[in-house]
Amino acid sequence: MADLSIDLAGIKSPNPFWLASAPPTNTGYQVQRAFEAGWGGAVWKTLGEPVINTSSRFAAVHFNGQRVAGFNNIELITDRPLEVNLKEIYETKKRFPNHAIIASLMVEPKQEKWHEIVKRVEAVGVDGLELNFGCPHGMAERGMGAASGQQPDLVQAQTTWVKEVATTPVIVKLTPNITDITVVARHAVKGGADAISLINTINSLAGVDIHSWNTIPNVGGQGAHGGYCGPAVKPIALSMVAECARDRGVGVPISGIGGISTWQDVVEFMLMGSTGIQVCTAVMHHGFRIVEEMIDGLNNYLDDKGLASVTELIGKSVPKYSNWGDLDLNYKVVARINEDNCINCNKCHIACEDASHQCIDMLTNAEGKAILQVREEDCVGCNLCSIVCPADGAIDMVALDSGVAPMTWNQRNQVISGLNGSYSEAEVV
Ligand SMILES: Cc1cc2nc3c(=O)[nH]c(=O)nc-3n(C[C@H](O)[C@H](O)[C@H](O)COP(=O)(O)O)c2cc1C
Ligand code: SF4
Ligand code: SF4
Repeated sequence: MADLSIDLAGIKSPNPFWLASAPPTNTGYQVQRAFEAGWGGAVWKTLGEPVINTSSRFAAVHFNGQRVAGFNNIELITDRPLEVNLKEIYETKKRFPNHAIIASLMVEPKQEKWHEIVKRVEAVGVDGLELNFGCPHGMAERGMGAASGQQPDLVQAQTTWVKEVATTPVIVKLTPNITDITVVARHAVKGGADAISLINTINSLAGVDIHSWNTIPNVGGQGAHGGYCGPAVKPIALSMVAECARDRGVGVPISGIGGISTWQDVVEFMLMGSTGIQVCTAVMHHGFRIVEEMIDGLNNYLDDKGLASVTELIGKSVPKYSNWGDLDLNYKVVARINEDNCINCNKCHIACEDASHQCIDMLTNAEGKAILQVREEDCVGCNLCSIVCPADGAIDMVALDSGVAPMTWNQRNQVISGLNGSYSEAEVV
């Protein structure tokens, strides 16, 4: 069995599965039960100045029969007294010395406030700190959460203040509500961040009730924007993790967050550069015990791959992720329909006809049976037909030898501008 333990910027954990700072890490009771279930670490529900949370605060987007495809909340940080949280952190750490406990922090952007809270939480034995610059709703009037996280200079300054007194590793948690997340990530690193975590929730409005015309959720008829998370945000989170992982100006370990619910999601985030991962919505939906399946699945996967340690996954897909301009324009795939598996639903034909390149012909075979066949010379290999096809194995996307050497858009531009004459005219797309 492979070694699942990780070391994220000096924070050691028996496995890469951490609970994200959120309702499942609100109390010592919960975090201790999570550790008993198998979670390797927990980022405590964000500690800070006293807040009051609204009563109606969660909403979900159910899509096509899948409950909680996306989750929306207008909750702020912890509404429990700091002393109570600190006492419970101390007790939990004592019971679980080998598990990772990270204190998530959010205070006003003032040096003395950061110094004070860092000293207080480190005194109870946390393994690391996570600075929450991501909460998209509320507290902006006090310059906290995303209001801070959207200003790179403020992220850098606050990280510096924390590092002035911190004795444990500092993770900076990033907001996705920004044009280019790598800019903020780089500023966090300039401020001394030992690691970054991403993503926090995405600005959202879960819906509008078409009968009452109220927003969902609403507090006595009045709504406000919330933070979106859960399976729906995974592709956004993964791309932001990938951007940070390949950015040379970032270069610190990543704790990946956003829509993770299965061991396969964990593998994807690790391949894309995460040293460990955090989960919130999937636990709110299914409970702590989902970690059992995650541990088993990851163990089996690593054994099948012949890997001795989960850390061997970290970043392996990063070199395979680049810019559009570096993709080979001479690479060619075409769709091939496999009659044996086709159930004749015609969805591929409609998709290609109405939304792609009109190259799936309706023919009749020698036995007089209606069949569909792709005209390969006109197929652009867009994948749409295989995406809409409901029958496994009915459409294969097959790579063909295009007969010409690979050429990217960037190389093509070089050729055109006469900088590189080593390609023949036929090879220039
Ligand atoms: C109800 C709720 C409360 C949250 N509270 C916090 C918080 O206090 N601090 C924080 O850093 N993130 C908070 N988050 C964000 C999560 O930690 C996490 O970044 C986000 O939900 C994405 O992960 P997921 O898709 O696994 O839910 C909260 C999320 C939810 C749903
Ligand atoms: S891959 Fe695209 S272009 Fe080719 S047959 Fe399918 S839908 Fe049509
Ligand atoms: S979508 Fe798939 S199953 Fe349906 S007709 Fe096309 S190949 Fe056959």
